[in-house]
Amino acid sequence: DWTPANIVDDSIAAIRQQVGDGQVICGLSGGVDSAVAAALVQRAVGDQLTCVFVDHGLLRKGEAEQVETDFVAATGVSLKVVDAAAEFLGELAGVSDPESKRKIIGREFIRCFERAAREIVGESGQVDFLVQGTLYPDVVESGGGEGAANIKSHHNVGGLPDDLQFALVEPLRTLFKDEVRAVGEQLGLPAEMVWRQPFPGPGLAIRIIGEVTADRLAILREADAIARAELTAAGLDRDIWQFPVVLLADVRSVGVQGDGRTYGHPIVLRPVTSEDAMTADWGRLPYDLLERISTRITNEVREVNRVVVDITSKPPGTIEWE
Ligand code: XMP
Repeated sequence: DWTPANIVDDSIAAIRQQVGDGQVICGLSGGVDSAVAAALVQRAVGDQLTCVFVDHGLLRKGEAEQVETDFVAATGVSLKVVDAAAEFLGELAGVSDPESKRKIIGREFIRCFERAAREIVGESGQVDFLVQGTLYPDVVESGGGEGAANIKSHHNVGGLPDDLQFALVEPLRTLFKDEVRAVGEQLGLPAEMVWRQPFPGPGLAIRIIGEVTADRLAILREADAIARAELTAAGLDRDIWQFPVVLLADVRSVGVQGDGRTYGHPIVLRPVTSEDAMTADWGRLPYDLLERISTRITNEVREVNRVVVDITSKPPGTIEWE
């Protein structure tokens, strides 16, 4: 029957069966899915696994440091960090279309993994397998499930190149998020990792509506850090499934700050509640919390002069704006 302990045992057996004595790499994103997938594979095949963390420059404030220290401390896994921010930004230059962004990011991730794999085993050896923390809802929404529509190319499902050199190991492919969290707890991962709110692999790139640039990333990163800090301070982290903060980079509106006219960008707050991300409701944040977030963002992030709240459920909206 379907207990966390049974899921762990079955999936360890299945991973051993698939991988044999092959070498495996796993991309860590900082999120719970890749962390749990990596921890399972580590249980199954030990030091045949090397984790790779691609810092694509699209992360939130403090996130890279978190992966580099917390996950390694919790698991003792061997980790290789690839700093690829310049490459990702270069490839994304001039691109506004959401699906194009996702495809580019998926392709660049794989290029980074291929490069990391060559460095890990040297010229003689070979890495055969790539672990992905793909969940059941990702499979369905990328059109991999039976009768499913292709809503978005999740970077870890639909966005893979045709000439992929690795076989995929996807131990979470039949699981929902709550089951993944149960498995994470079963494996003894720390609570802050297991209960972290989901964050998409393509990162802030799909929360900037318009072209992704370093300046725009800096604006969004500041606004996002404020919103997250205030949600945490209000004690609402576990009540809210996810809290995307979105920059409408191609939109400007007139404002007044001090006695001067401003012509800045809007920030969208997108708090949602959900069971599994397949459907969602907009999160009813308290007005005083919304006010604190709005005041701080417009005071502390110079380029932003307006904060709006997204009150759309899913469907018809998706959780992310792209
Ligand atoms: P949507 O926006 O489709 O998102 O309602 C559903 C859930 O999936 C996350 N998401 C992604 N996760 N790679 C990921 O790992 C992706 O490309 C991706 N796109 C969306 C989203 O944050 C939400 O939790």
